[in-house]
Amino acid sequence: MKLTVIGGGSTYTPELVDGLARAHAALPVSELVLADPDARRLELVGGLAARMLARAGHPARVATTGDLDAAVADATIVVIQLRVGGQAARHVDETLPPAHGCVGQETTGAGGLAKALRTVPVVLDIAGRVAARAPHAWIIDFTNPVGIVTRALLDAGHRAVGLCNVAIGFQRRAAALLGVAPDRIGVGHAGLNHLTWVRSVLLDGHDVLPDLLDRHPGDLAAVSGLPAPFLRALGAVPSYYLRYFYEHDRVVEEQRGAPSRAEEVAALERDLLEAYADPALDTRPARLAERGGAFYSEAAVQLAASLVGGRGDAQVVNVRNHRTLPFLDDRAVIEVPARITASGAVPLPVPPMEPLLAGLVAHVSAYEELALDASLRGGVHRVAAALLAHPLVGQWDVAERLARDLVAANRAHLPWA
Ligand code: G6P
Ligand code: MN
Repeated sequence: MKLTVIGGGSTYTPELVDGLARAHAALPVSELVLADPDARRLELVGGLAARMLARAGHPARVATTGDLDAAVADATIVVIQLRVGGQAARHVDETLPPAHGCVGQETTGAGGLAKALRTVPVVLDIAGRVAARAPHAWIIDFTNPVGIVTRALLDAGHRAVGLCNVAIGFQRRAAALLGVAPDRIGVGHAGLNHLTWVRSVLLDGHDVLPDLLDRHPGDLAAVSGLPAPFLRALGAVPSYYLRYFYEHDRVVEEQRGAPSRAEEVAALERDLLEAYADPALDTRPARLAERGGAFYSEAAVQLAASLVGGRGDAQVVNVRNHRTLPFLDDRAVIEVPARITASGAVPLPVPPMEPLLAGLVAHVSAYEELALDASLRGGVHRVAAALLAHPLVGQWDVAERLARDLVAANRAHLPWA
């Protein structure tokens, strides 16, 4: 089986390779293709990937290429994990909005919109090549903003599932706190990508979230970045992305004058690539854990295995709503547990959402719809309309100024600007 990684030159790739190496029985990959426009990165990352697989005794052959069409031809799984504009574009996402009093983040708020504008056309182009050359392949999209990108893929008729590591990260953390194996834990995780709450934690089918909140308030507060009494009042654990909403002004304050995450990651990437160049290195380097993608490999491998093998297990993914959250459009993309089979992901029922949660989800889902429209059709006025719809922007003058500045700063990556 051929598995192709678009953005395979990412420093994250060894994380994925580590997962593949351990999962040969569940996901028998015989050919791993890393595609990337950056030849130097491909050489370094491809070399390490081959050494890691060899060390694990994994039989897959590793190929690297800059040719997208060749990369996707006859693939069974195509993982998309690219970043248009690299950390330099991300730095703008993180620093431009704070100059307008808004949070600077690459997936949430104005920065997330800029990322969508840059990314949606590129991912749709790749998906078109997949449809032409590997029509039965499944696309696993890890490229942010995952909710908007997945909606773009599904609207265009592609076989795609969106993936994020927030849910699996929580599952692993909860299992560690309870001292049990992760597969005994089901997480009642619901919302939109990077806008989710854990509303139950099922240990062997019984909800232990109230006990967890009582016994481990500090750990759960650390997971979400929000105070324990607030979590207890909510009766749920918000993902750490909710801090951009619930402590918005404080975050903007913290961001003033602080280095951006893009700058931190760029420095870390330089070190990682240097480490990857060492021909003696044949395992995932420990410092990769400093990236935010913990357990990404497990989640991606698990999802690929169920899409290929039709295992029918439940995994948290980004799928069409299909009435799961009745207050949203059926075509909206949500992030919830879903049954994964060879015909795709089908969302499992979600208990009715409390008004506080539902209101925010509906608000951001409307923003996502407008963000996708702006990404597909372009136009500063459509960018401003999406920003006006975002709960973290919402004022017409801020939306207009931000739209103008974001488009100007991203011009090189926008086909229409
Ligand atoms: C988490 C999110 C990803 C995001 C990453 C950023 O894993 O789920 O969607 O890309 O964090 O990590 P970074 O190391 O780039 O800041
Ligand atoms: Mn994510």
